[in-house]
Parts: sequence; structure tokens; C-alpha cells
Amino acid sequence: MYHMNTPILDALTRLMEGRYTNFHVPGHKNRNALIEWSKYIPYIDTTEIEGMDNLLDPRGIIKESQDLAARVYGSKATYYSVNGSTGSNYIAMAAITKPGDKVLVQRDSHKSIYNGLVLNRLEPIYIYPNYSEEHHLLTGLDPELIEKSIQDNPDVKAVIITNPNYYGVCSNLEEIVRVVHKYDKVLMVDEAHGSHLVFSDMLPLSAIEAGADIVIHSTHKTLASLTQTSMIHICSDRVDLNRLRECFNLFTTTSPSYIFLLSNELAAAYMDGEGRERLDRSVDKVEELVRRLKDIDRVLVLTKEDDSTIYDKDITKILFRLEGMTGSHLNRLLMEEYDIILEMADYYYCLALTSLMNQDRDFDRLVLALEDLAKRTPYQEINQVSLNILKPLIRMNITESFYADKEIINLKDSIGRVAATSVMAYPPGVPLLVPGEEISQELYEHIGLIRKNGLEIVGLMGYNKDQIVVIK
Ligand SMILES: Cc1ncc(COP(=O)(O)O)c(C=O)c1O
Repeated sequence: MYHMNTPILDALTRLMEGRYTNFHVPGHKNRNALIEWSKYIPYIDTTEIEGMDNLLDPRGIIKESQDLAARVYGSKATYYSVNGSTGSNYIAMAAITKPGDKVLVQRDSHKSIYNGLVLNRLEPIYIYPNYSEEHHLLTGLDPELIEKSIQDNPDVKAVIITNPNYYGVCSNLEEIVRVVHKYDKVLMVDEAHGSHLVFSDMLPLSAIEAGADIVIHSTHKTLASLTQTSMIHICSDRVDLNRLRECFNLFTTTSPSYIFLLSNELAAAYMDGEGRERLDRSVDKVEELVRRLKDIDRVLVLTKEDDSTIYDKDITKILFRLEGMTGSHLNRLLMEEYDIILEMADYYYCLALTSLMNQDRDFDRLVLALEDLAKRTPYQEINQVSLNILKPLIRMNITESFYADKEIINLKDSIGRVAATSVMAYPPGVPLLVPGEEISQELYEHIGLIRKNGLEIVGLMGYNKDQIVVIK
């Protein structure tokens, strides 16, 4: 039928025919959600013809649908976005700032926030999250630290935070909202991993409920929606809706997919009905699963009660370890020997991302696999490595360094030079270094230690990843 090979089709066909247990995004868990998509595609893949609407200037069915979603979410206005929370973050950051503005930014932000700083030519002041040395985890932001940073930088325009973080840890949002609004600043919350929170009283507070001004959701991560779907929620008068619309146009394709728009609509519609009850049931099941996992010898599950620096924790993201094994090793064994695919693993932890679409048998398989591994794998002492983020000296603005002349040099010769690229341990993808920051001896040694312990570093160059891009 084709002369060209079709590696993507081949891999997806294998995936479709395979049977594995899904603890990763997208939140629909490869289960047909809400409608029989195969009956509709490709007929529904359409454009702005008669009877349809225009996402870039919605006045008909898209406007109506977005207004309904706003009611379901309890926002003032909701926008369907088709380039993930990545695109939504660019739009939101542009809408609440002007080039050159100072913004407070949580240091363990996703790379889309860093890209947004460059695209919108902003000047970031970083706020560092807490790190639990005991549990080797970034554990959220102190509202007091945000207040202090605003007092030190009274000219900041907005505060941009992430909640929950990738591990499901939540900060005290109500207090953060109070502090940010006390100084009349705008609070943007990248809640990419929290589009489900508003629908259950058993889960941490959503940024929408807490009173943030603008909130970003990846509906595809934790609800039954297709990859790339996202929503932007405006929750206060601090955000100008006309400006938001202009910025939406700046960053959005003129051919948005109706498949994504429909998927966003269905995700919201489902949560306005039986989805809520299904989510509550699913949280009950996860709580039971956590109890079963905690009963297994050597298995540790981190919940909010375990660490005093954790304000709240989204339990649907199950963070667990097997004593005597690294997280990445455990992740590999679960995948290769038990066909269980997790969202991610770092040096210490594995993260099983559950959603309302997971079924009892998924949970049973995870318990059986861990019981088996706990019994049959040897206990090996693992080195203690701190995954805390250092605080590099900022020598140049992130945007200027993005556009500056660059050169590639050996990492070992880079101490004292200014980075022109981001360097991060992956996962979780939190940057150790961002463009414009100085490469210190301490950072060089930290990178060496991380690599020696088998963690992947993204952002280095060369076959052996022993080179780095710096400012000339
Ligand atoms: C905190 C956070 N923000 C934004 C994004 C980007 O979301 P998307 O993949 O929907 O573009 C991610 C993706 O993992 C994320 O973890």
C-alpha cells in the first residue's frame, strides 16, 4: 500500500494490540472515553464552515461550550486551548505582562514557563521551593517566602507558580492568594496536573477555588481528554479578557482541531455529571491501594502525613519506593517484567499517575507486582544523592542569553562561564541551570555526582554529554 515505511503507524498498532497497565498520561488511560471516537473520526475533523465557529473569535458553538465549561469549573471565563498547557502558559504569561516586566517565578517550573519568559522577554526573580532532605523531594512553596520576595521586589508584575508539582505536592494556595493580592499582584497558577482537583472534596484545593487570577489546566493529563487539550481559566478582574484574546491569537494556530475542542468539551461535560462520582470512587480506591501498598514489606508510599513540609498532596499521584532499589531501576522492572508503565521515576521514587479512568484490575496488578518484587529482588544499599536545586548566580537576563552569541566548550572548562542553555536532571526535569546563570564549581560537581549515580542529564552536548553551550 505504501513505499515509505510507517514506523509511527507500526508502533501505534503494536501499542493498540498490546495489553499493559497504564499509570501515565493521558488521563483517559487508552479507554474509550465518553464517545466512540472511531465512529466520528474523520468526519468531525472540520474547520470554520457554516454552522461551526472560530476558536480565535468564538461567537457560536465554541463560545457556548466554553461558557458552559466556565460554569462547570467555577471560573469567570474559560478558553479551550489546543497546544497543551505549554501553549496556554505562553498565552497566559503574555496576557498578564508586558516585555521587560519583572515576575516572580517558582524555580521548579516546567520548561514551558521558561520558554514563556523568553518569548515575552520577562525578567524572572526565582522563588525556591522547600526540599525535604529526609524524603528527597521538592515539597512546595512557603507563602512567607513569596511575601518576602514581593517586598524585596515591589515592582514585580505577577507571581507565577506551579501547583501541584510533578510529584503531586501542593502548597498553601489560599495563603499564597492572600499574600499576592495583598500587594495587588496577579497570581498565575500552572495547574497542568490538577484539572481534576475542583471536582472532588477529597482532593487538595484547586487554584480556581483558592482564588488565583489565571489558571492553566492540561485536561489531557488527569481527565478523560485527548493529548494536547488544555484550558485557560480566568478567575478575576485582574486579567483583561480583551488582552487575553489578543494573546490567544498570537500563539494559536489558525486551524485548531475540532477533535481537541470536542474532547475538552466532553471532559468538562462528563465532570458535570457522573464523572464527579466516578472521581470520588476512584479516590476511595486509590486510598485503599495506598493502604495495601504500605502493607508490603520494603514498599514505602509517601503521603502528606509523612513529611511536615508538605502542606497537601494529591493522592491520585502515587509516589512510592522499594527500599534497597533506585526508583529508575524499579520503574524498569515494572515495565519489562510486569507490563506496568508509570508516569515517571527519579533516583528515589516511582510515580503512578492514576485517573478516574483506571480500573480495579490496574490497581491489583500493581500490588501483585510489588509484592513479587519485594520478595524476590535483593536489597542493595543506594547512595544518598541530594536532588535539591542549587541557587546559581544570575549573570545575564534569560532572554538576552537566549539571543547572545554562543559557543560549545568542555564542561570541565566551563566553571565561571555563563550558561546559554538549560541543564536539568531528567526526570523530573527541574532545571539545575538556566540560560544566563553562572556555572559554579559546586554545580559542576553536583552534575558529576548526579551522572555518576545513573541519572540522565538533559541539555549537555557531545556524544558523551561532556560539553555545554555557554555565552561567548
Ligand atoms: C507543570 C507543567 N506545566 C506545563 C506542562 C506542559 O503541559 P502540556 O504537555 O499539556 O503542554 C507540563 C507537562 O508535563 C507540566 O508538568
